[in-house]
Amino acid sequence: MTYVARDIVETRRAVAEARTAGKTVGLVPTMGALHEGHLSLVRASAADCGYTVVSVFVNPTQFGPGEDLERYPRGLENDAKLAGDAGAELIFAPTTDTMYPAGYATYVEVERLTDGLCGARRPGHFRGVTTVVTKLFNICKPDAAYFGQKDAQQAVIIKRMVRDLDLDIEIRVLPTVREPDGLAMSSRNEYLSAEERLQATCLYRALQRAEELYAERVRSVGRIIAEMTAIVEAERDTRIDYISAVDAEELSPIEEITAPALVALAVFVGETRLIDNVVLG
Ligand code: PAJ
Repeated sequence: MTYVARDIVETRRAVAEARTAGKTVGLVPTMGALHEGHLSLVRASAADCGYTVVSVFVNPTQFGPGEDLERYPRGLENDAKLAGDAGAELIFAPTTDTMYPAGYATYVEVERLTDGLCGARRPGHFRGVTTVVTKLFNICKPDAAYFGQKDAQQAVIIKRMVRDLDLDIEIRVLPTVREPDGLAMSSRNEYLSAEERLQATCLYRALQRAEELYAERVRSVGRIIAEMTAIVEAERDTRIDYISAVDAEELSPIEEITAPALVALAVFVGETRLIDNVVLG
């Protein structure tokens, strides 16, 4: 049976018990509304580790003013069932007061890597992510933690944070899980109307075009982004937040693809902001 813990002491006790029993601990941090993308991480952790913790916490510090914090889908009971079926032993689902009690004043910040892409469009977002992930690491003390390539910038930032702060945790990044038509799975897909849902495939189609161009030996970022832009703009209800190609490690802007490049985009489809990416090279 999957156990749902709401508080920190209880979670620490359960994890310590598993560790005493000789089990390695895997952590899958999530904001809930679990889908196959999340569950692929849970299954990977359950395959690698004797004890899997899934955290479910809609982290307010990573949402900006006017973003969808209040609207974000929540359904702990269903999430606990799905995570349990995928192999999780423990769900850690703290309240906001538990994570950020009155007087809370401490944040973790990764420099440079947070400047571009989503970091430029959502000021403070990654500071919230790195802060909550550090807290989750300290609470759950995992041997390994699992993240999705869907949030490529987040994965790069967390790997760097772990390296820079000498955290003794292995970060494993797993491929993006997609719907049959290519749309990357996301809790935010629930916001899309039927018509928007059809248009939303333009992110994946644009990325596929980038892959095609790369395979045809096109290395000019300007050319690739121009073609991707045309594909997204052909849909009626889309608004491009950004389309960028950056160095896959340093996330610094590039003009030519000479080393592995992260091609990433964020697009509003109606009011819903979707992101996706591929790595070229
Ligand atoms: P959330 O958006 O719930 O995603 C939790 C984890 O699932 C992240 O590592 C994300 O990259 C991964 N994921 C989401 N969709 C995926 C997909 N289609 N395929 C593969 N993996 C996917 O990311 C967050 O929450 C938060 O920022 C968090 C790290 C929990 C900190 O609050």
